[in-house]
Amino acid sequence: MTRRVEEVITAHRQLEGGGFVVRRPFPTGRLELLDPFLLLDEMGPADYAPGEAVGAPDHPHRGFETVTYMLEGAFEHEDSAGNKGTIAAGDVQWMTAGRGVVHSEMPTKAIQKDGGRVHGFQIWVNLPARDKMMPPRYQEVPSSGIPEATTPGGLAKVRVIAGEALGVKAVIDTRIPIVYQDWTLKPGASVEQPVGREQQALVYVFGGSVLVGKEQRRIDDGQLARLGSGDSVSLAVPRDAKDGARLLLLAGKPINEPVARYGPFVMNTETEIMQAISDFRSGRLGEIQRA
Ligand code: FE2
Repeated sequence: MTRRVEEVITAHRQLEGGGFVVRRPFPTGRLELLDPFLLLDEMGPADYAPGEAVGAPDHPHRGFETVTYMLEGAFEHEDSAGNKGTIAAGDVQWMTAGRGVVHSEMPTKAIQKDGGRVHGFQIWVNLPARDKMMPPRYQEVPSSGIPEATTPGGLAKVRVIAGEALGVKAVIDTRIPIVYQDWTLKPGASVEQPVGREQQALVYVFGGSVLVGKEQRRIDDGQLARLGSGDSVSLAVPRDAKDGARLLLLAGKPINEPVARYGPFVMNTETEIMQAISDFRSGRLGEIQRA
């Protein structure tokens, strides 16, 4: 059974970190989370002049996962465990914060100095109580390592960051079942993507428009569709459309546990949040060592 569109949310623009612009469909005052997803940010696209690019300097996380996927430009990251690297166009960094890290996420020094275009996504995936205090874990996959597939006619292409599509399986391991796919649809494309019945499914459009569900509800650039129950998602672009569409298909099995949330900490109880703040303030989440 194909899932219906239950709700359409238009992303609002807001400033994050050191002042970079994101399009954020949730969380909002009205919609706190879409279990197991805590946040979806589209970073940019922003064209920075020399000396203008901004990011998110040293900050902590505990109790969930941050997933960074770059489309254009590149970020440099650094953390309290000594990890360091660049996330370039097409790359994915799946960071399981677990019991906690302090990290920084900044446009590369070249982009900060010379300017450039930055476009990407960061989503936050909640962890079940049993994993909230696990040791931090990184999965970094370069663009060339992200499995891709195309439909036989070539009208639909998918990059499979998590889950499985068109016979291709993701290489990233997730703590709970998750689907994270970047679809590119040309006019005339039509796909029926299976998504397990137990999962909550979302479609976020970041280019053009796409028809979703049996009722072919049109979802536009900057809109998020929350889908109802079913076992597949239908995505289509009319043959006579002027442009194709870009979208993220996200799905995950709801964790169904209490969520206590304060900034970069997401736990189950207020007591655990107080503990996280105290651990951070007393340096127990570490700090970034710089030469
Ligand atoms: Fe972060």
